[in-house]
Amino acid sequence: MSRIETRTISVAVTFFADLRRFLPRGADGPQRYALPDGATVSDLLATIGIAPDTDLTAAVDGELADRETRLRDGADVMLLSPMEGGAATTVERHYGRGPGLVDAIRRALAGMGKDPARLAPADLAPIDEFHLRGREATIELAQRAKLAPGLRALDVGCGLGGSVRYLAAEHGCRATGLDLTPEYVDAALELARMVKLDGAVSFRQGSALALPFDAASFDIVWTEHAQMNIADKRTFYAEIARVLRPGGRLVFHDIFQGPAGPPHFPVPWADEPSISHLQTPDEARARLADVGLTVHDWVDETVPSLAWFAATVERLRATGSPPLGLHLLMGSNAKDKFANMRRSLEERRIVVVQATAEKT
Ligand SMILES: C[S@@+](CC[C@H](N)C(=O)[O-])C[C@H]1O[C@@H](n2cnc3c(N)ncnc32)[C@H](O)[C@@H]1O
Repeated sequence: MSRIETRTISVAVTFFADLRRFLPRGADGPQRYALPDGATVSDLLATIGIAPDTDLTAAVDGELADRETRLRDGADVMLLSPMEGGAATTVERHYGRGPGLVDAIRRALAGMGKDPARLAPADLAPIDEFHLRGREATIELAQRAKLAPGLRALDVGCGLGGSVRYLAAEHGCRATGLDLTPEYVDAALELARMVKLDGAVSFRQGSALALPFDAASFDIVWTEHAQMNIADKRTFYAEIARVLRPGGRLVFHDIFQGPAGPPHFPVPWADEPSISHLQTPDEARARLADVGLTVHDWVDETVPSLAWFAATVERLRATGSPPLGLHLLMGSNAKDKFANMRRSLEERRIVVVQATAEKT
């Protein structure tokens, strides 16, 4: 007699604030639940014994989820009480700074004596290049990408859209940015208007795990300092491979897990470990190969990143913080985040890689 095997998945659930009342007696910390393959957040709640009408917010792998969201094997689920609202950590909440971001940028530009009618895209670089080595790294990555005018480029996790504007203005690419954080997408568009590039670029709010674009619709996929917030790397790379045309290239500049243990928190991409999902460079290479992306360049940029940190700290010591800078994006613990990032680099808890891979 043949037996029908039903695959099960396992998810880790963290309960926050008053939702801790649903923790099994005597338990603490994340709990594992086994569910049938294809199970949704609703199914998980039923398994835990949480009534369907309970007022709560669920986040899966750092992103807000609804009750119909399907769970993957190994997913990290957070159950948050609506009462704790702002305190709850999801990727969007971590990065979101509220609706006043563009006004704060305008004020900072005015404080630096910039004429709003004569802004160049590079004037925004102190804030719209939210990654190690700022614009210098973007220029280097563009050289690796072998760009040409008219190429269709997608920046996944584009933040305020600095690289998207750079690709359009300096290389004539048809550039699109996608980001999860709604305030960043709104700001990216407004900043494009400010430098008169809104006709040359476009921005979409959405998830890297479900790219809202047709298959084979880009020549270049570009991503800087976003993958460390993404738990489901297989879907991340598979989505990139899907939207690239055959022969198209992925180029990235990112932070990976180093050999010396987890980073010190908070860091710029996460106040605490629940939304930090670092992989080692070897894991990344294996996952790229799995989805048909063949690595061409693979360059460890940890040492230049550390040198950049040292030079930046020296400059800030001499001149003080400029009005326009990444501190506007990093909240009240910006100093700790910078210091921990530098220390984590020095101790090789994190390493930095620039790479290119081709869809074969
Ligand atoms: C450190 S910022 C880097 C922004 C930009 N790439 C840059 O270098 O200036 C990380 C960005 O990744 C975005 N992000 C994180 N997870 C994402 C996801 N699953 N889908 C789309 N964007 C994501 C965040 O919203 C944030 O804007």
